[in-house]
Amino acid sequence: MSEGKAVLIVKDLEKGYRNEKGKIERNIISNLSLEVKKNEFLCILGPSGCGKTTLLRCIAGFEAYSGDIYINGKKSVAPGTDRIMVFQDFNQLFPWKTVEKNIQYPLIKKGIKDKRKLDRITEEYLEKVNLSGIQKKYPHQLSGGMKQRVAIAKALALKPQIILMDEPFAALDAMTRTKLQSELMQISKDEDCTFIFITHNIQEAIVLGSRIIVMSAMGKIILDEKNRIEKPVTPASEGYGIMWERLHDALYSEK
Ligand SMILES: Nc1ncnc2c1ncn2[C@@H]1O[C@H](COP(=O)(O)OP(=O)(O)OP(=O)(O)O)[C@@H](O)[C@H]1O
Ligand SMILES: [Mg+2]
Repeated sequence: MSEGKAVLIVKDLEKGYRNEKGKIERNIISNLSLEVKKNEFLCILGPSGCGKTTLLRCIAGFEAYSGDIYINGKKSVAPGTDRIMVFQDFNQLFPWKTVEKNIQYPLIKKGIKDKRKLDRITEEYLEKVNLSGIQKKYPHQLSGGMKQRVAIAKALALKPQIILMDEPFAALDAMTRTKLQSELMQISKDEDCTFIFITHNIQEAIVLGSRIIVMSAMGKIILDEKNRIEKPVTPASEGYGIMWERLHDALYSEK
């Protein structure tokens, strides 16, 4: 998918959390501005505690903040199905619902009632994540990798404008992680969707990202570049080593 106009604009974002007395303790994100183009795959790297999840939660509409966030030019004031979040936690599915009921629940909430249509969408998106035929299983019957695949299918099925992914592969073993990375790469090519993907893993950012940002304390963006390495990326790809070093230096420059 080629990249287009800005699907997300974050302007002068300020975010602090309140303490027990209701007072805003300190700014977690200060004066952050960011523009993301349609169909970009933006990877965000940054040290623990710099505000990556906070940024994603503000974009998702889960947090109050100062500044402006626009989705397709419209000011975002609440959560919506145009921005779906996928988490690191394996337990983001309803444990009492089957895989198909998990995927269909938000679709029904969105107004799709026709059972055949719901089943068709479920099948289509399970196929995209290589999980055909597991509709009737419960989350506890699935491996961690399978649960993350279902969470991705569930998000994609809603056809959001933006998928917000907060370290979705961080808890997986290395082999499963590599496999999911290449599956996600394929999905991002096929789907008309913008991805914002947080990771601590430089390799993952280079493999997936069409653009990579490095954040430091208080949500400061210290590096923002296009990733022009040809996909699929391997450590042997031309430019990989230089990019890895630059990202590594930026990540560790302020420690
Ligand atoms: N609900 C909350 N109330 C108060 N402080 C919070 C809350 N959530 C996050 N924080 C603080 O905000 C800062 C940024 O947290 P955030 O979770 O955004 O970091 P992060 O960059 O995602 O870190 P990690 O890489 O470890 O996930 C941290 O200092 C954290 O303690
Ligand atoms: Mg986080």
